[in-house]
Amino acid sequence: MSATTARNTGEAAVVTGYEPVQIELLACTGATGVDLFARYAPRTPPMLFCRAGHPITPEQFLELREAGLQHLFVRTGEFNQFSTQLFESLDSVIQEETLPRTQRFAAVQLAVASEVDRTLRLIQCEAFVSLAERIGHNLSALLASSEVVPIELFHIARHDAHTFTHVTNVAGYSLLLATQLGINNENELKQIATGAMLHDIGKRLISARILEKSSRLSNAERELVEFHPQRGFEELVDHREFEFGQLMMVYQHHEHIDGNGYPVGILGDEIHPWAKLLAVVDVFDAITGKRPYRKPLAVSAALECLREKAGSHFDREITECWITAMKQT
Ligand SMILES: [Fe+2]
Repeated sequence: MSATTARNTGEAAVVTGYEPVQIELLACTGATGVDLFARYAPRTPPMLFCRAGHPITPEQFLELREAGLQHLFVRTGEFNQFSTQLFESLDSVIQEETLPRTQRFAAVQLAVASEVDRTLRLIQCEAFVSLAERIGHNLSALLASSEVVPIELFHIARHDAHTFTHVTNVAGYSLLLATQLGINNENELKQIATGAMLHDIGKRLISARILEKSSRLSNAERELVEFHPQRGFEELVDHREFEFGQLMMVYQHHEHIDGNGYPVGILGDEIHPWAKLLAVVDVFDAITGKRPYRKPLAVSAALECLREKAGSHFDREITECWITAMKQT
């Protein structure tokens, strides 16, 4: 991808061994504990731009802007360290009004990476649940606003196969879709964002070997994967802080309107509206993201794919609402 294209779309080039970080965000964080690299042209290796512990100077920011760059890179091996450092200053970054809301969303996404990864590996789910609530509430304050254009959020979001990417994207998209559907109660929006953060909690102890398998799943593997909504529901059902709708987001997000979904195969009018909206953006994020077993779809192809399944997999009205929202500029 050329620097010009990167400037137009906001998307970072994929550079093996490195993770992209928005330059605007680095302007707010000060010195980082890791080396930062710049990539001035496609197919060239990133070059060391700023050593760990040294803040980027105003002259360097100017140089980056003049070069049309939107991202610097950190080594993949140091990404968790970078993410942990960002997590410690998360509250101040979220309140940083000089950053556009979409940029602050990108900051949240980077900041939660190592914490999502760490808490999902724990036997008890409480730490992940608390993190999901905190981030759900933060995202709700950030995105429940008419200032946020869905396609801009899409362009700034990551689109890789990491769990932290998927859950934060789905939480962000759920909030935007809920707002477009006319939900404007602050508490409900917080609950929807938290439910979206938690929707795949039932997958957390399924091995990556199965979740990322490119060949056909065996019957036993498919049963294990299709059990994740029920497993997630069972993990959360005794948490009294959750509303019925949130539990249904976890339990029903793979149910289809025509009754051919799982885990139960209920029909559309039995599916909770929050689970219906989650189903649309969950699939949208899955098919526009990179996966080990297939290439991501472009936005137009992904929206067409959703439209083909409206009325069978997805609620027709909710799907059309998301398609319309994603076409706003
Ligand atoms: Fe799921």
